[in-house]
Amino acid sequence: MADNASRDGTRYGNPDINQLLELIYGDPGPAYADALDTLERTGMPKIQVSANDGRILKLLMRLASAKKVVEFGTLSGYSALWLLAGMGPVGRLWTLELEQAHAEAAGGVFERAGVADQVTQLTGDGRAQLETLSKDGPFDAVFLDADKEGYATYARWALLNLRPGGLLLADNAYLFGLLADDDEEHAEARASVLATHRLLAEHCTAACIPTPDGLAVGVRR
Ligand SMILES: C[S@@+](CC[C@H](N)C(=O)[O-])C[C@H]1O[C@@H](n2cnc3c(N)ncnc32)[C@H](O)[C@@H]1O
Repeated sequence: MADNASRDGTRYGNPDINQLLELIYGDPGPAYADALDTLERTGMPKIQVSANDGRILKLLMRLASAKKVVEFGTLSGYSALWLLAGMGPVGRLWTLELEQAHAEAAGGVFERAGVADQVTQLTGDGRAQLETLSKDGPFDAVFLDADKEGYATYARWALLNLRPGGLLLADNAYLFGLLADDDEEHAEARASVLATHRLLAEHCTAACIPTPDGLAVGVRR
């Protein structure tokens, strides 16, 4: 049974429940701790997905039997490890990252986790990689988690390069809580994330999962 408050997304999640569920669903293991420690050690921003978001990514990869996945926004490789876990040992991940330092740190994480041979890292602006990347398609899933201003471009590319039944996923689908605001500062990012929602609604069977900052999920028709 739900009520208006839970339907509106204003209850019932809280830090105590999150902590309890973390204990039940378990520690994913040392590779994930290494990806998080690497953020700390190298002074990268701690803007990775949550453990629960990661579990959702893994689950979705498993449900789609994904074996070829593209990720926009590598950071230290934390979400990449979850995507790879959902694909299993024959999975391949292409992960794109603007910052050379982030890409190098993630490379170390992939080496130490023993998954480097499953990962192709592309460094530079995601927009500049799209043509090259298309040659390795079609893909089973595309995960957007880089610059929000680029989401609409990445989503349009994804719809052309996903197999039918493939997944288009977009994190921060609530744009850090700003999606329904009208401030100038985030106008470009908001237009891009809104366009991504519209593309998902038009071309996919889609919904936005109400994770803390929204995870939009669509199955390409
Ligand atoms: C939110 S973080 C990614 C977090 C990662 N997916 C995780 O959960 O572990 C966003 C990353 O996208 C990168 N980025 C920003 N603009 C980009 C662009 N234009 N192309 C590719 N990557 C970009 C940032 O440098 C940053 O490392």
